Amino acid sequence: MVGSGSSTVTVTSGAAAANDPRGALQKGIAMRALIQDRYGSSDVLRFGDLDVPEPGDGQVLVRVRAAGLNGSDRENLAGTPFYARLGGLARPRHPVPGSDVAGVVTAVGDGVTRFAPGDEVHGELPGYRGALAEYAVTPERLLARKPADLTFAQAAAMPQAASIAHRATAGLRIGDRLLVNGAGGSGGTFLLALARRLGASVTAADRGDKAEHLLRSGADEAIDIGARDWADDRDRYDRIVDLVGQRPPRRVHRSLRPGGQYLLVGGCTRVLLATALLGPAIGRATGKVVRVLAVPQSGALLEEAAAMLAPADVERTIDRVLPFEEAPAALALLAAGETRGKLVLDLP
Ligand SMILES: NC(=O)c1ccc[n+]([C@@H]2O[C@H](COP(=O)([O-])OP(=O)(O)OC[C@H]3O[C@@H](n4cnc5c(N)ncnc54)[C@H](OP(=O)(O)O)[C@@H]3O)[C@@H](O)[C@H]2O)c1
Repeated sequence: MVGSGSSTVTVTSGAAAANDPRGALQKGIAMRALIQDRYGSSDVLRFGDLDVPEPGDGQVLVRVRAAGLNGSDRENLAGTPFYARLGGLARPRHPVPGSDVAGVVTAVGDGVTRFAPGDEVHGELPGYRGALAEYAVTPERLLARKPADLTFAQAAAMPQAASIAHRATAGLRIGDRLLVNGAGGSGGTFLLALARRLGASVTAADRGDKAEHLLRSGADEAIDIGARDWADDRDRYDRIVDLVGQRPPRRVHRSLRPGGQYLLVGGCTRVLLATALLGPAIGRATGKVVRVLAVPQSGALLEEAAAMLAPADVERTIDRVLPFEEAPAALALLAAGETRGKLVLDLP
């Protein structure tokens, strides 16, 4: 399992600047960042210089060593589905894309107790933005210590995807039949790894050209969504985790066995709303669970997920590690569906 040590550092807010345990704040210093001024394709992205952010109360400044991409980055680039515009209706309020980082703490704000400059960490950024830059600032509670046996690239692959996978597989038992829809992407690939560890029997649905990746990642069976609709299966699964929900809730429950659970993680806004509104009533009527699974951004959750995965599991999720300069190309690959599992950007 991935190791995770934890120690506590108490910060003295009145310390002299020269040996301030909060680290030297990078006031007025510029950093290189990927900048997104509007929604669109990867053509709207450009590199530029921004001020290094300052950590406020309870926040940590991280020198980013690697940033992992997720489906949410593809959505936040395009501004669709609609919830991707919660961070700015007409244009993104935060100019820097990217939600997941691994790196080294360089400064901490007042009230930070768990981290100090020099600590190696990984975690998510609030609003899923700010990772694709040399420095990123995030609340302490969204960070976990980087497991010593993971590289920065491996640690950056984990935060959002492993947290989703951990929550979505909670309570699965050996032999349970699990269907993962949209299994070839970021969250799905981690789900396959965790479900395999838990001993579930896994069916993975995605585009046909990802079948080999799905089977290699831990699926027992791969469904080509272009050839077969898993929702036609009756009474087959103990749990369905849907990462790209497109079916109304009244349709999906029929594929569940008695007492089964349908957990919707992502998808189009209409289906998310319908599942949130109608799911509880369908659940009561059928004796099944039909609901949206909200996964909080949390360093504690990430630590739990890390404890369940071996470094080899994490490495298997990574499709490619690309240099930071290729971030626009990486987001273009993601938008075009030309990735299997995780894309990670490496910052020197
Ligand atoms: N519930 C929460 O709290 C929470 C938290 C964070 C993120 N999310 C959401 O979770 C969702 C999934 O994230 P992710 O990072 O795993 O996304 P991802 O990396 O984009 O993976 C999605 C996968 O589904 C495939 N796919 C596309 N259309 C499909 C269809 N009709 N049927 C089956 N598979 C299809 C994609 O293939 P192509 O790449 O070829 O299109 C891709 O392999 C996102 O919508 C994200 O916003 C939810």
